[in-house]
Amino acid sequence: MMEYFAVAGGSPLAGRVAVHGAKNSALPILAATLLADGESVLHNCPALTDCDAALEILSCLGCRVRREGDTVTVNTACRRGHAVPDHLMGRMRASVLFLGALLAREGAAEACWPGGCALGARPIDLHIQAFQALGAQGRSWNGQLFFHAPGGLSGCRIALPIPSVGATENAMLAACGARGLTILDNPAREPEIVDLQNFLRCLGARVSGAGTGRIVVEGGRPLHPGEYTVMADRIVAATYLCAVACAGGEGELLGTDGACLGPVLAALTAAGCTLDRGPGRLAIRRGGELRGFGALRTGPYPGFPTDAQPLLGAVAAGARGQSRITETIFDRRFRYTEGLAAMGAAVQVEGDTACFSGRPLHGAWVEAADLRGGAALTLAALGARGESVIGGLPHIDRGYQGLEKALAALGGHIRRVTGPA
Ligand code: UD1
Repeated sequence: MMEYFAVAGGSPLAGRVAVHGAKNSALPILAATLLADGESVLHNCPALTDCDAALEILSCLGCRVRREGDTVTVNTACRRGHAVPDHLMGRMRASVLFLGALLAREGAAEACWPGGCALGARPIDLHIQAFQALGAQGRSWNGQLFFHAPGGLSGCRIALPIPSVGATENAMLAACGARGLTILDNPAREPEIVDLQNFLRCLGARVSGAGTGRIVVEGGRPLHPGEYTVMADRIVAATYLCAVACAGGEGELLGTDGACLGPVLAALTAAGCTLDRGPGRLAIRRGGELRGFGALRTGPYPGFPTDAQPLLGAVAAGARGQSRITETIFDRRFRYTEGLAAMGAAVQVEGDTACFSGRPLHGAWVEAADLRGGAALTLAALGARGESVIGGLPHIDRGYQGLEKALAALGGHIRRVTGPA
């Protein structure tokens, strides 16, 4: 059986939807539960297939995990081993985040070498350099990566040449288990790094500086389990906003005020949307014509988030006028434009830049090639005249908890259909 979204596009939205917890916070935080013995409780932990994979890794490491709604309990008391299973490493690249936590806790970590992924090469050299700087010895044999720190990890100075999100998180996790002070210069400043810091503090760790140009970890302290609420997902929020931009009408998002979405809100305003922010809510309206938003360029936070660029691509495709998107983080992030072209979009990709001359879209049969690209095609379908079918839902389910239900709550005509392949 295969699943697809059936979308009847072309009518404006009206509705309200709650934004679920952030995938990119929940994953490092789930890895961080390994740092303390006992039962940690995470609220607002989204039910995504990526989070399921993280919970499976914890189970394989001997932890007892339980989910009730959006609350997840992880009991690490019986944890054992230090290897991330190959099939889970293959299912989700973010499995690499368990290496830092395992090194901190077990003094050893093992995983298969992660290959390229849908977005491009995605090396992990910076993760490895951070582990080595902290005193871990690493070797690679037969496609497996082994790290161990027989004498324990020691705090050090690490300067990241580029602010990698995953390398920052892995360095923070490993540094919690290292003796003494670790100073991490040029870390990623994403809000999810701040969320990880807040969780680590809730376990009793001494970490400061997340969100700035220097993170300091005073490692080697005994940690205790904690209870924590994961932040709202800013990319999911951006997705719902772009749905209203694409289809027109109005929508209200609950559980976020859009504080970390500055560049996305600016692009949507330039495209002719009106935004209204309040405590714990964010409303959007697009009554008139959707306009091209000019040029945008992705960059590390606080720049324009690469994860939101396909969503703005969907907006650009159906707008009147020119838009231009330059992708600076990943090299294979424009594959969704083929699906947009099938819907009638005028889009040209040259190197790292996609140029859109917006025009009315029509429904089409398209296939998601990756997570955010799949969401972008779904949004474009809501704004397109006629029926669309979007396949490749396993990509979308990695990062959206029931995207079709959320978009239906916003007034979209969309349903998930299960049928023979
Ligand atoms: C995280 C997010 C992902 C987001 C990305 C950029 C999670 C689970 N995923 O991915 O959704 O799109 O941040 O905001 O949080 N790089 C290296 N060497 C390394 C590591 C990274 O060269 O060792 C490069 C990458 O190829 C890329 C850039 O650094 O060009 C940024 O990648 P990074 O910030 O590490 O992304 P992820 O942590 O993989």
